[in-house]
Amino acid sequence: MANWNPSQYLRFGNERLQPVIDLIGRIPLESPRVIYDLGCGTGSGTVILKERWPGARVTGVDSSEAMLEKTRTLEAGVFWQHSDLNAWEPSAPADLLFSNAVFHWLDDHHALFPRLMTKLAPGGVLAVQMPLNWGAPTHRLIAETVRGGPWRERLEPQLREFPVLEGQEYYDLLSGQASSIDMWETTYYHILEGQDPVVEWTKGSILRPLLDLLEEPEAGTFLEMYRSQIAQAYPQRPDGKTVLPFRRLFFMATKS
Ligand SMILES: C[S@@+](CC[C@H](N)C(=O)[O-])C[C@H]1O[C@@H](n2cnc3c(N)ncnc32)[C@H](O)[C@@H]1O
Repeated sequence: MANWNPSQYLRFGNERLQPVIDLIGRIPLESPRVIYDLGCGTGSGTVILKERWPGARVTGVDSSEAMLEKTRTLEAGVFWQHSDLNAWEPSAPADLLFSNAVFHWLDDHHALFPRLMTKLAPGGVLAVQMPLNWGAPTHRLIAETVRGGPWRERLEPQLREFPVLEGQEYYDLLSGQASSIDMWETTYYHILEGQDPVVEWTKGSILRPLLDLLEEPEAGTFLEMYRSQIAQAYPQRPDGKTVLPFRRLFFMATKS
């Protein structure tokens, strides 16, 4: 499991929050009473859920102490729970199970999503966003760098190359328990500033578990190989900024 670094993750906090806002905006619930934010991280999205439905009991669930530590300073009337989602059970059927940028870290979606649907009350909603950029240079070049160096044997088992299924497959996994399903994808074009911003982005997420397995000077060598290829794939624009296209899958299922 990744050793999350909240400060690195929050360097692009605004960009990472936009899918949360877009997903919440389409949830068709008037006044849900029991809400869980699954993989809540530092709690920025959980707080928005509480603001959107102030009367609800909102609980943020995460397995990273480092990420949950950041929620301690939030005074939002939210409950926080340290738990691994692979084994997590709600204490009562939920009206909303919300999850942003989390489930690509979990395996066996064929079992996971039907199981989550059983945790909803009738009329409850499962609302999910996951990245869909597994073939993009950001990710392809990570795999190439892993396979192109002396660390290959150690790092290759940790590569998560295609952890997200096709939209149609999620439809099949959810439709047996759903009265309606809403599904879409969005490509965000993030306009990033500073030096090597794409590498800084992946260092806060998908690169994390791999870097954790390397020590200096190997970690530096790995990053340098990756960095030089990323600079070619995502060149700085004439004004010095860098454009990072980022594709994401959204779906929402209402329990019958
Ligand atoms: C990319 S962050 C997203 C955080 C938050 N949802 C957001 O949108 O800012 C992924 C989060 O999922 C959590 N996570 C990953 N696997 C998990 C698991 N098996 N159980 C609980 N949380 C998990 C990580 O600890 C991390 O905080």
